[in-house]
Amino acid sequence: MDRTRTRDPEARSSADPLCQLSLEQLRRRTSMKWRTYPEDVLPLWVAEMDVPLAEPVRRAVTEAVELGDTGYPAGTRYAEALAAFARDRWGWDGIDAQRTAIVPDVMLGIVEMIKLVSGPDDPVVVNSPVYPPFYQFVRNLGRRVVEAPLGEDGRIDFAVLEETFRRLAGPARRPVYLLCSPHNPTGAVHTAAELTEVARLAGAHGVRVVADEIHAPLVASGVSFVPYLSVPGAEDGLSLMSASKAWNLAGLKAALAVAGPEAAADLARLPEEVGHGPSHVGVIAHTAALREGGAWLDELLAGLDANRALLARLLTEHLPGVRWTPPQGTYLAWLDCRALGLGDDPAEVFLHRGRVALTSGVPFGSGGAGFTRLNLATSPELITEAVRRMAASL
Ligand SMILES: Cc1ncc(COP(=O)(O)O)c(C=O)c1O
Repeated sequence: MDRTRTRDPEARSSADPLCQLSLEQLRRRTSMKWRTYPEDVLPLWVAEMDVPLAEPVRRAVTEAVELGDTGYPAGTRYAEALAAFARDRWGWDGIDAQRTAIVPDVMLGIVEMIKLVSGPDDPVVVNSPVYPPFYQFVRNLGRRVVEAPLGEDGRIDFAVLEETFRRLAGPARRPVYLLCSPHNPTGAVHTAAELTEVARLAGAHGVRVVADEIHAPLVASGVSFVPYLSVPGAEDGLSLMSASKAWNLAGLKAALAVAGPEAAADLARLPEEVGHGPSHVGVIAHTAALREGGAWLDELLAGLDANRALLARLLTEHLPGVRWTPPQGTYLAWLDCRALGLGDDPAEVFLHRGRVALTSGVPFGSGGAGFTRLNLATSPELITEAVRRMAASL
């Protein structure tokens, strides 16, 4: 029997982490997703997931709390757990704990990596539309953001990237390319060929690559994540990884900076005090997620596949004017609402008329106007209600 043809794409397992919590339970949360808007607003915006903690993570954190193991972080267990996860999931044996550093979170890690490989006023290239803090953190650091917009298909436009690198190259400059892999918000999962081309262009133009791979474990079925540092030519690259997106651990601060072999000397210059930022309990939680959270992650990924199928059906039925490409990675859906006639900021209209909070596309930079980003990491009931409210806003 051809199982793929008969399988219901919206079918759910009873263990789906996205189906465990009621709206009433979620409203008791005190995090940003649930406390920014009034109670009558359905929040499908910031990248938090509506899931309970994976059991191995809950257990590890509980044990730490019971033991009073709440001091400062030590050792390389987080890096070793990531190395094992990378071998197991991505068939990549390239993480050497000696070439890693624990950083407080991915964004602060990015800032530190940019400081290591560039100087004041040096340009940082981003592929707009992109995660808005890429602009905020880079500018706050005193670097110049230069956009190399994605193509219409939401993927890297290599002609534009090459032209941007060519324009920025120069003896007195140390440009950086801040790669978002997978890409937030379009969900593009870069292929090995694309990443190899990134490395080739960066090498040819003297650009250093810093890859944000926070969404790496979150790919749709049939899609493979390729670590940037695994492709030829990426030896001088730096990557930021974390268990925080895939296991919803943003409140338990810890991430890893990983250097390619030719960036080891750069990472070795990371000031000692950066390691004071991450939380020891965070390190424990992230390590447990990577070591023992694989089965939970698989249930989550199956649930996200079902949510993508659900959103596709709902948009066709209720909002046929919205255009989108189901994301290959991340749990975010990038919705092109330009045909709806809601102006540059449809999220504003959906919030005020529909009482549903999505993320505005505008702060994502060039190419973001007229778009909105919907967070799919919630229950099918809430996605259904969100689309109903969006449709009612028109
Ligand atoms: C691409 C990307 N990078 C970084 C972050 C934030 O990570 P952190 O909280 O570890 O700084 C997010 C959060 O959604 C993200 O989507």
